[in-house]
Amino acid sequence: MKKNFILSPSILSADFSKLNEEIKFIEENGGDWVHLDVMDGHFVPNLTFGAPIIKHLRPCTKMPFDIHLMVERPTDYVVPCAEAGADYFTFHVEAEVHIDRLISYIKQNNMKVGISIVPTTPISVIEEILPIVDLVLVMSVNPGFGGQKFIPYALRKVEQLKKIKQERDLNFLISVDGGVGSKNIETVVNAGADVVVSGSAFFSGDLKV
Ligand code: DX5
Ligand code: ZN
Repeated sequence: MKKNFILSPSILSADFSKLNEEIKFIEENGGDWVHLDVMDGHFVPNLTFGAPIIKHLRPCTKMPFDIHLMVERPTDYVVPCAEAGADYFTFHVEAEVHIDRLISYIKQNNMKVGISIVPTTPISVIEEILPIVDLVLVMSVNPGFGGQKFIPYALRKVEQLKKIKQERDLNFLISVDGGVGSKNIETVVNAGADVVVSGSAFFSGDLKV
């Protein structure tokens, strides 16, 4: 298939003992961005890494860093992520009450703003803020772990977003994260994904672009 999307491989499925080489692997195998899953063991039942590790990875590549924060109190991570060299700062709207304030704060810190929704959060929750964000990340698995099965009803939300984008002439990117592999990537892109996140399928070699 002709590549008409941005591929953002998630290092959650990489070998953490050799992340430098894994980032080179992303570069050499069609990756455009690097997706970094920050988990705090509270918002999701898993713990990964934070800004100090991202800062060490920054000199390894020029590819944009697509940070996906699955954390409580995302505001606390804005300055550390900006200083670590993040390009996109994507937080979960379920984790923040004062979303508008956080969006301004991310922009003040010179990062692109991403908002994310878990599979059960409807698009109506984010409708008002679509004109002021750069990316909307639709989770197609329950956040926390790689290698899970794609939840089909997430596709309907991707289609809904694509429609709103066209009708209102908006510019945000639609990103889809979780359970995407060679079997369903075409469906996901056709539904409206501009960015495809892939962890296990990319690093196992199932997803070749
Ligand atoms: C899950 C993460 C994803 C994950 C995707 O909570 O946000 O980015 O790494 O992994 P796969 O592609 O294996 O579902
Ligand atoms: Zn992610």
